[in-house]
Amino acid sequence: MDLFAYKSLLFLSLIGCCVADELLPAGPLEAVLGKNVTIKTLIKDPSYLFITWTFSDGKEANSIASVSESTGLKLNDAYKGRVNVSSINGNLFLKDLKSEDSGDYQIQIIKKDGSTKTEEINLRVLEPVSKPKITSDLTEPIEHNSTVVLTCTATGSFLTFSWLRGATPIEADGKRVIVANKEESSTLTINNVLRSDLVGPIFCTAVNKLETEKSSGFNLTVYYGPEEVTLTPSKSSDVIEAGSNFNMSCAAGSLPPATFVWYRNKVLMENSGPVLTLATIEKLKLGAQKAEYTCAAKNAKTLRAIASTGFSFATMEPISGVSVIVPTEVLMAGNSSANLSCLATSGTVTTRTWLKDGKPLVASSRVVFSADKSSVKIDPVQKEDNAEFTCQLSNAISKFKASHTMTVNYGPDSVMVTGQAEVEVKDPIELSCSSESVPAATFTWKFNGTATGVKTAKYVVEKATYKNTGSYMCVATNAGTGRTMTKNFTVSVKEEGALDVEPEGLSDGAIAGIVIAVLVALGAAIGLIIYCRQKVPVESPY
Ligand SMILES: *[C@@H]1O[C@H](CO)[C@@H](O)[C@H](O)[C@H]1NC(C)=O
Ligand SMILES: *[C@@H]1O[C@H](CO)[C@@H](O)[C@H](O)[C@H]1NC(C)=O
Ligand SMILES: *[C@@H]1O[C@H](CO)[C@@H](O)[C@H](O)[C@H]1NC(C)=O
Ligand SMILES: *[C@@H]1O[C@H](CO)[C@@H](O)[C@H](O)[C@H]1NC(C)=O
Ligand SMILES: *[C@@H]1O[C@H](CO)[C@@H](O)[C@H](O)[C@H]1NC(C)=O
Ligand SMILES: *[C@@H]1O[C@H](CO)[C@@H](O)[C@H](O)[C@H]1NC(C)=O
Ligand SMILES: *[C@@H]1O[C@H](CO)[C@@H](O)[C@H](O)[C@H]1NC(C)=O
Ligand SMILES: *[C@@H]1O[C@H](CO)[C@@H](O)[C@H](O)[C@H]1NC(C)=O
Ligand SMILES: *[C@@H]1O[C@H](CO)[C@@H](O)[C@H](O)[C@H]1NC(C)=O
Repeated sequence: MDLFAYKSLLFLSLIGCCVADELLPAGPLEAVLGKNVTIKTLIKDPSYLFITWTFSDGKEANSIASVSESTGLKLNDAYKGRVNVSSINGNLFLKDLKSEDSGDYQIQIIKKDGSTKTEEINLRVLEPVSKPKITSDLTEPIEHNSTVVLTCTATGSFLTFSWLRGATPIEADGKRVIVANKEESSTLTINNVLRSDLVGPIFCTAVNKLETEKSSGFNLTVYYGPEEVTLTPSKSSDVIEAGSNFNMSCAAGSLPPATFVWYRNKVLMENSGPVLTLATIEKLKLGAQKAEYTCAAKNAKTLRAIASTGFSFATMEPISGVSVIVPTEVLMAGNSSANLSCLATSGTVTTRTWLKDGKPLVASSRVVFSADKSSVKIDPVQKEDNAEFTCQLSNAISKFKASHTMTVNYGPDSVMVTGQAEVEVKDPIELSCSSESVPAATFTWKFNGTATGVKTAKYVVEKATYKNTGSYMCVATNAGTGRTMTKNFTVSVKEEGALDVEPEGLSDGAIAGIVIAVLVALGAAIGLIIYCRQKVPVESPY
């Protein structure tokens, strides 16, 4: 009798019979196509007569193998080379799994006591999981506007998909973010996509019970902006120095980077780019009038354009080349007038100030300013006008000054001779003469009305003699004014020691007091002597 026919008979006859010990674990058992599987039994006692394995795909049953102590392993031809059964525990080893291997595997055991037991387990041969791929329906999504549908596809059996941003699972909220799964694909739909939605990068995984596969990282650039369009500098200023390297620059958050255009008083300018230089504005001769400049940032992908706040200014020429124009003729105190004017070679002057020796020059009957203060007339000039005159010119962006030291001829005034009025014989006589004078005076000396030939400010006699007593005249002459002034000084030469007697440390009053006291005492003594002479009888020798 054929072994397999016998086994089938046995199977049919003994079905439903109960043996206490279980033979197989609960199924189903899963294994991957092309790989090996071992269906392990729960048999612990290797004492049996016979073990057979039968496969059923639901339509028909086919014997696979049997093993017994007496006959050893017997394989159905269809399974030769692919199957082994353990003689110890009946484990069924099946290699190079095909999808047709999915089905029910039945084990039947005949024990030595003649009892039989049959159990079966379901094996599912799974398609292997392929590496998932992510595709997007859009290549250039726009933030807040686009709905992006990402599709993850993979092959394999019983797949479940999941989505990750970086390492974090993406939560579907069913509104903005929707995940829909099919057998071999999953879609992630993001409405009103944000720039942060699609970087991380995005991964999808396809999983079944046996395998997990993960896609490569997927990034998708979401275009956005422009936003936060800013013009620097931000605070408008009244004036900007003409010709300076002033720039306005415009920036915006934008992807792709924004392009920029500029408006002057809301009129589009030809110049584009993130920087508008003052040089450009001046080339168009548009700097001098105050105007408001704005920039607008445009995004070529989102097609959005946003304008900045405005920046207003006008240019102003800086002041330069300031000079004080002064009269060239010689000025005479009390007789000349001077007209000082202040000029700048370039720049718009808004403020003029005049200083004399660093202090504000005050208008008076003698000092008259022109209406715009560009000149001042001093009539007549006086000796106090020998001073530094400064004019300051300024505007909002610059300040310049120029000075002139004015010379007014006067004098000589206040001619003065200093020296000792009384000297002793053999002592030196030193006289010096000074005067207030512009230009400085020259000096000559006369003695008792006669020219001396001395032409210096000092008149020196090394050893005085009585002849030097007399009147010394200093003659001060100003070549500029042509005027001459004189001053007399009397010197008297005394005998040696005549000037020593004065007790030191006593005041003139005390000296006078002592002198008077001495004279009074002397007078009293003389009076007494005369009186005594008159009173004493003159005895006649006769
Ligand atoms: C299946 O088992 C055979 C030995 O019978 C071995 O050579 C092969 O590598 C195994 N295949 C897999 C996928 O494990
Ligand atoms: C079956 O397995 C046993 C040990 O488990 C081994 O000795 C025997 O060679 C195997 N037979 C085949 C045909 O692979
Ligand atoms: C995706 O973007 C992230 C963050 O910007 C970056 O780290 C990653 O390398 C990118 N991956 C790919 C595939 O472009
Ligand atoms: C203004 O722009 C020009 C050219 O773009 C540059 O040479 C100059 O340095 C800039 N000036 C300032 C103040 O940024
Ligand atoms: C953005 O969406 C609005 C309507 O929601 C549409 O009018 C506009 O054209 C869209 N912008 C772009 C750049 O597609
Ligand atoms: C002023 O100048 C005039 C002519 O140069 C002269 O006649 C007059 O005397 C001068 N007066 C004084 C005060 O110097
Ligand atoms: C000073 O002279 C200038 C010309 O040099 C003239 O324009 C101005 O009016 C004069 N100023 C006065 C105060 O006379
Ligand atoms: C100075 O002395 C001279 C004679 O030496 C005389 O003519 C003249 O008047 C005197 N001057 C003064 C200011 O006293
Ligand atoms: C100069 O004059 C004084 C008085 O005026 C006279 O005492 C003196 O002797 C004179 N000296 C000479 C050297 O003439």
